[in-house]
Amino acid sequence: MALNKRKRIPSRKQRNLITHSNPESIISEQFRTIRTNLHFIYGDKNSSTLLITSPGKWEGKSTTAANMAVSMAQQKEKILLVDANLRNPSIHNIFKTSNMIGLTDVLEGNVSFEEAIYPSRIGKLDILTSGDTPYNPAELLASDAMEQFFQKVGSLYDIVLIDSASVLEVSDTKIIANLCDGVVLVVRQDKTNIENAFESKKVLEYAKAQIVGVILNEKS
Ligand SMILES: Nc1ncnc2c1ncn2[C@@H]1O[C@H](COP(=O)(O)OP(=O)(O)OP(=O)(O)O)[C@@H](O)[C@H]1O
Ligand SMILES: [Mg+2]
Repeated sequence: MALNKRKRIPSRKQRNLITHSNPESIISEQFRTIRTNLHFIYGDKNSSTLLITSPGKWEGKSTTAANMAVSMAQQKEKILLVDANLRNPSIHNIFKTSNMIGLTDVLEGNVSFEEAIYPSRIGKLDILTSGDTPYNPAELLASDAMEQFFQKVGSLYDIVLIDSASVLEVSDTKIIANLCDGVVLVVRQDKTNIENAFESKKVLEYAKAQIVGVILNEKS
């Protein structure tokens, strides 16, 4: 399927994208601060891959990943946002695009990466939706194709942000964490319990992941 067949972001405001609809808000400013902090962690390294995850379901991983991506793209960087939550994807809903093709198709070799990405109208932000849920998500994410995918996108973008499933829920996220340069852990004030937050930290460290930040997500 050709790139131009994909729907583009509509110009109307998007509910979950406060960084897009209100770039001057305090929350938008906080996302910019995260980006600045990453500069200190990674220095002049050309590219970095960051996993966004949380201990449990529904804690704000996708909302955070989408807003981080927009905020970074507004700072003139070349950003790729990947939906690697193959079991319960939602990035296509947040950006109101189709999920006909995506990461699973690239990993399975059905389409090229260039055919699968969706160029947003927000700076240099490209989006790769999940594609269809595969029969074997963990196996696909642990494949050589996934490693090759990481090498490719690392050479094409300043920052690659990966949305994922909850780290305590399935093994998928630990596999991706091991491939990424850093992990941002999202915890939700009214939802995440402290034991699960500590357990997530342990699990991620065991997967040799570097936690570069924790975001306290709070309903406004
Ligand atoms: N700070 C917030 N304020 C208001 N609503 C929020 C906030 N963060 C997330 N939500 C809402 O909570 C719901 C869950 O958020 P989101 O989809 O980002 O979580 P998730 O961790 O990605 O979930 P899943 O585990 O299903 O992937 C969504 O309806 C989202 O719009
Ligand atoms: Mg999600």
